[in-house]
Amino acid sequence: MEGNMEFSDNKKEMYEEVVMQLKGLFEDCPHVLANLANASAVLNQALKNINWVGFYLCESTSQAGMFTSQLGDACDHDKTAEWVSHGLQEDSMLILGPFQGKPACVEIRIGKGVCGTAAARDEVTLVKNVHEFPGHIACDAASQSEIVLPIHANGKVIGVLDIDSPKLARFDEEDKAGLEAVVKVIEEMYQNVLFKAND
Ligand code: SME
Repeated sequence: MEGNMEFSDNKKEMYEEVVMQLKGLFEDCPHVLANLANASAVLNQALKNINWVGFYLCESTSQAGMFTSQLGDACDHDKTAEWVSHGLQEDSMLILGPFQGKPACVEIRIGKGVCGTAAARDEVTLVKNVHEFPGHIACDAASQSEIVLPIHANGKVIGVLDIDSPKLARFDEEDKAGLEAVVKVIEEMYQNVLFKAND
């Protein structure tokens, strides 16, 4: 397997290459955590000026063995709080998943930090200066900017992709579009694994 791929200096092309590589790696691989680990490795190779890339997964989906019928209940508890429409509630937790970078905080409450806010609002959250984001959780003191994208399965948020940079305003609309395409491939991978598990 090709382990050390060169990625284009052109951002749009680079994201297309990442998408292609992930599709190849995910093909016929029904192991979600392994696929997410490879996705974090590929993104770490492809993206310049980042110091952390990885996944936070909704509590029940982060447990080994959940990738079957349980996934439908991923973050779905009582529907009481502001993020009710997305099936999340205040005491839901994001748990650290596969990543590349320095060791990071293990639990993030839904609604807290950039990750918990992105999951709660079900919204891509692009932070040009993390020091200006209320409640930002600093896992690596080097981080200056950050982008977090929600990941869905069965129509629900089941986790987030989180990327940190030591550069201010590292992420722009082109990164957002490219990473949305990356997340789409990850969501398709989840659906394929689910489909096979429920076959
Ligand atoms: N900064 C994130 C915490 C996770 S680390 O960046 C890896 C946040 O505010 O949610």
